[in-house]
Amino acid sequence: MKVIVGITGGIAAYKAPELVRQLVKAGHEVRCAATEHALEFVTRVTLETVSGNALYSDLFASGRTEHVSLKDWGDLLVVAPATANIIGKVANGIADDALSTLLLAFSGKPVVMAPAMNCEMWAHPAVQHNIETLKGWGIRMVGPESGELACGVSGVGRMAEPEQIAAYIASLSTHDSQLSTQKWLVTAGPTYERIDSVRFIGNYSSGKMGFALAQVLADAGADVELVTGPTALTIEHPRVRVTRVESAREMYAAATAAFPTCNGAILSAAVADYRPSECADHKLKKNGNEGMHLDLVQNPDILATLGSMKREGQTLVGFALETDNEEANAQRKLDKKNLDYIVLNSLRDKGAGFGVDTNKVTIIGRDGSRKESPLMSKKEVAQLIVEATALKDTQQ
Ligand code: PMT
Repeated sequence: MKVIVGITGGIAAYKAPELVRQLVKAGHEVRCAATEHALEFVTRVTLETVSGNALYSDLFASGRTEHVSLKDWGDLLVVAPATANIIGKVANGIADDALSTLLLAFSGKPVVMAPAMNCEMWAHPAVQHNIETLKGWGIRMVGPESGELACGVSGVGRMAEPEQIAAYIASLSTHDSQLSTQKWLVTAGPTYERIDSVRFIGNYSSGKMGFALAQVLADAGADVELVTGPTALTIEHPRVRVTRVESAREMYAAATAAFPTCNGAILSAAVADYRPSECADHKLKKNGNEGMHLDLVQNPDILATLGSMKREGQTLVGFALETDNEEANAQRKLDKKNLDYIVLNSLRDKGAGFGVDTNKVTIIGRDGSRKESPLMSKKEVAQLIVEATALKDTQQ
């Protein structure tokens, strides 16, 4: 793998050459990118010698757009140490030097950070908020550890040891290629069922859960067919193909067409169970003081249809959004729709479900397996779901 090691200006920068050495020893090709402050702690000569490549540290030195060519070159970017400053810059979209510019350009590829700072700084709400923002975007954190810090006090803030960071990268590089021969279907978002030319029946789904699933599957190497209902969300990933639909019937057509060539499907869309039996082609007018009656007919059940189409070797994962009798209802859907797994989320859990950036789920398998998550970012929940389903058979 081609690994870029980003180094920022903290005392733990003295451990960066050892990390580079270990990555090279593990067979990775390594290039370093350092901030000006990092070079107060570790020299250019050291980094260029251990990596065997020129250091990137000056945005303007070569007169070329090196942050873009380096971004194209690298498979993974690890920042060790990651100071509160670089964490804050990335969380707020600031690109004012070589490394921060590279970090913003490096979207769609795995980024790992090994934070290191004083324990009071680490505990500061601004830093914690920024860390959560980065995690929500899928940036992985290794450490920090608890122990004696350079400032003489003990607490959480020590950079993880180079061996630990190198081992984490090794686990990712196996993980990231595990689905490289696979194709997965994901549904996301709400559906809109038209009443007339200006109104529809819809729901509060934002698409965040489904987009996070598509991102995690693609990061793990899969080609992804993402079929989404109306949402403002976008996804830029070379392995994700997005089909935008409006109604349940359009989602049904796109999903049933894609499923036969897929290894599996995860259906997180909130599909309207019913639609108006007729859609007026003009704006319906008020009819005096009389009420209005809508005649509704049932939409096709996409998940149940895929369950009936499922071939040997395909994996089908559904969601269950419940408000009561959660477990029993989820189990019933698992059986009735011929699923391999069902992901239960309950609207009774604060911070779970529609619209929010977090979720709390229980993944129940037909094989009797069961995994519960705490309240986590939807990106982390997506990682857990992919590990428990798509990656299950590929884990040692
Ligand atoms: O989009 P977000 O704002 O991030 O919110 C995420 C979410 C709450 C929408 C998501 O986590 C979730 O729970 N999705 C499923 C919502 C739902 O409609 O659940 P359900 O229990 O009604 O449906 C069961 C399953 O059947 C789901 O996989 C659903 O996609 C599928 N279904 C339902 C009806 C239908 N006609 N066709 C279907 O495929």
